Amino acid sequence: PCPALPEGFDFTDPDLYQHRVPLPEFAACRRTAPVWWNAQRRGVAGFDDEGFWAVTRHADVREVSTRPEDFSARLNTSVIRFSEHIGRDEIEAQRLMMLNMDPPEHTRVRQIVQRGFTPRSVRALEAALRERAGAIAARARERGSGDFVADIACELPLQAIAELIGIPQDDRARIFDWSNKMIGYDDPELAITEEIGTEAAAELIAYAMNLAADRAKCPARDIVSRLVAAEGEGNLGSDEFGFFVLLLAVAGNETTRNAISHGMHAFLTHPDQWELYRRERPATAAEEIVRWATPVVSFQRTATRDTELSGTRIEAGQRVGLFYASANHDPEVFDTPEKFDITRDPNPHLGFGGGGPHFCLGKSLAVMEIDLVFHAIADALPDIQLAGEPRRLRSAWLNGIKELRVRYA
Ligand code: HEM
Repeated sequence: PCPALPEGFDFTDPDLYQHRVPLPEFAACRRTAPVWWNAQRRGVAGFDDEGFWAVTRHADVREVSTRPEDFSARLNTSVIRFSEHIGRDEIEAQRLMMLNMDPPEHTRVRQIVQRGFTPRSVRALEAALRERAGAIAARARERGSGDFVADIACELPLQAIAELIGIPQDDRARIFDWSNKMIGYDDPELAITEEIGTEAAAELIAYAMNLAADRAKCPARDIVSRLVAAEGEGNLGSDEFGFFVLLLAVAGNETTRNAISHGMHAFLTHPDQWELYRRERPATAAEEIVRWATPVVSFQRTATRDTELSGTRIEAGQRVGLFYASANHDPEVFDTPEKFDITRDPNPHLGFGGGGPHFCLGKSLAVMEIDLVFHAIADALPDIQLAGEPRRLRSAWLNGIKELRVRYA
């Protein structure tokens, strides 16, 4: 028990996140019950409603993340539901995504897709994305005022994934539409974990499978061809590729969008930091934005055997929730964690995961996108101002902003 938390308290209750991330409650847990039994589970979709261990300290989140043999990712499946539209068993379908795989299966897929995320592949996108970021900021300037999320934060993450995979220009509008539907962007009340956008997910998978089949027959100079072209062990099958694109559309899209929206909100409410950013553009800013925002509040694992974590006994089959949002405010690791400090260095935050095999594949791409967007804003919209309170996503899993009214100049 954690004496500071009321009976029945639940870190996955989406209503808890309606106005804020429950940082004081995380702090209470870190101090008195760092591995805490969260008996009720309301808000994160899974295959049942049993409780789980809430892991709140930085060191423990890292430990679970780096012990995949004891804490399985395969035994959880909680990304997005879609299988009814593709005629597969839900859980089996989830396990076609690497996020829900364990080594050695995960190692095989990760080694293949990593080819698309080398520093060179990411750098190759920089010029195109810089130009896009500039155009996005210029368009917003013409508008004068509006919703920062729709006007600025949405587009670049989608363009980045489309560029990376080599989605033809003519198909992008459709891809963006499916991705937005999938993450429930059109619906203010729903979050990603609820049963929405399943048809869009199925359409996206079908599209990506077709693209893969085309390129396998007729390779081009793009990532798809490099991942699927030759038959055999070293490549993805076309359905594996389909699910990989689905994962990118979920994992690389709303995460980065929310980092950008929260980053802007943090700058607008910390004018000294915006002033500093405009003047010096410190290279450390993007990582602090991700720490501050922690777009992914938590992920889960399942214990594969009876084990122990910081003196707490965990039984085989029990689930653990890794609360990155809590780890990123752990005073054992961060001086003044409550301070938004874009010069923070070192900054060993866990916003991209706690290390280990599932560490965010798109981290360097995400950091580059955040840098490019804020450079473009500092150049084109230096006097941007807040014009209303942000409207938050109702979700215990994603720390999201749905709408952020601003004046651009
Ligand atoms: C995994 C966060 C951007 C692709 C993850 C994980 C987190 C995360 C927390 C899980 C780590 C774990 O379980 O240990 C973020 C944040 C982002 C971001 C906060 C933006 C600020 C991206 C982008 C892409 C991407 C841009 C790709 C275009 C992935 C993939 C995985 C992943 C494929 C699964 C890796 C695996 O299972 O091996 N991300 N991510 N992410 N991310 Fe990201």
